[in-house]
Amino acid sequence: MGRAELIELLKIPQDREKYLFELSAKTRKDSVGDVVYLRGLIELGNFCQKNCLYCGIRRDNTKAVRYTLTDEQVIMAAQFAYDNSYGSIAIQSGELESEQNSDRISRLIEKIKILSKGELGITLSLGEQSFETYKSWRDAGADRYLLRIETSNKDLFNKIHPNDPLHSFERRVNSLSMLKELGYQVGTGIMIGLPGQTVESMADDLLFFKNIDIDMCGMGPYLNHSDAILGESDMSEQERFSLTLRMIAILRIMMPKINIAATTALQAIDPLGRELALKVGANVIMPNITPTTVRANYKLYENKPVSEDCLDIQEKTLFDRIHGAGFEIGFDVQGNSIHYNERN
Ligand code: 5AD
Ligand code: SF4
Repeated sequence: MGRAELIELLKIPQDREKYLFELSAKTRKDSVGDVVYLRGLIELGNFCQKNCLYCGIRRDNTKAVRYTLTDEQVIMAAQFAYDNSYGSIAIQSGELESEQNSDRISRLIEKIKILSKGELGITLSLGEQSFETYKSWRDAGADRYLLRIETSNKDLFNKIHPNDPLHSFERRVNSLSMLKELGYQVGTGIMIGLPGQTVESMADDLLFFKNIDIDMCGMGPYLNHSDAILGESDMSEQERFSLTLRMIAILRIMMPKINIAATTALQAIDPLGRELALKVGANVIMPNITPTTVRANYKLYENKPVSEDCLDIQEKTLFDRIHGAGFEIGFDVQGNSIHYNERN
């Protein structure tokens, strides 16, 4: 698919959208089947060295209540994932670059691999790091890495980040290639509906994914946070939601065998957002298994669904709803990207 065709698909009239979704659903079925893979999401901590203008936990937001899980809490959450047959976990946090942090993560990865007899797949989403750090985590046993490009349009990237060397577009792209070189399954993604973002630039994002040959993707609507500096989206929440579904559908058709996440940000707009994403082509879901005492503090955007119990209120009925939407759940399997397996 060329750029013009992608733009046309992103702008498809409402009454023809169902044909796009039918094709993406069929592509999904033929290439990755009806299985939805789980990644138990552990939000390790919200300290961050970066100051992304859209984010609620950026460094300079003094209102954010900061926390870091203890090693014991992380291990407990991983044990919960293992005991409940999740197959994989994802460890996410703000970006910290230090030897201490790097060693801590390596140690945690090793412990989790041991407690699960090597069975739990481990995805990391810990930002930009040195080659050495990425390598030590890979050597410790990490399988996948998620690092969103946020937008592949360099001018827009520079508008949504402070103008300093820490927030460099080139460094982000370079990190993705280091991860690939180290043999990770590599995932990236964007936010949809950023102020100033156009449908044309989203078409370029899709071409960017194809060009760097990603194994996984996570895309979600841009959501406002009152402590963020970046202004409101030019689009309504409904428009952002619907464009996100279109992006997922088109990407499934372009890259049939990658893993695509039905992201939590979709659920912040519509309680059934993730199920809809699965129907149009996503095949991965990340139930939050962070200890609930700190969960409200990991707030990248507002309206994040939170509960007091061990799983989100929504997550408790999640499995039923996934079944209800016509899918199977990939219990006890890591659910690696078929695209990755085939390119290796
Ligand atoms: N709205 C939606 N997504 C956000 N993220 C950060 N802030 C926001 C926001 N305000 C996303 C970014 C980041 C991921 C961890 O969370 O895409 O990569
Ligand atoms: Fe930090 Fe990620 Fe938020 Fe940027 S988006 S401020 S790197 S947590």
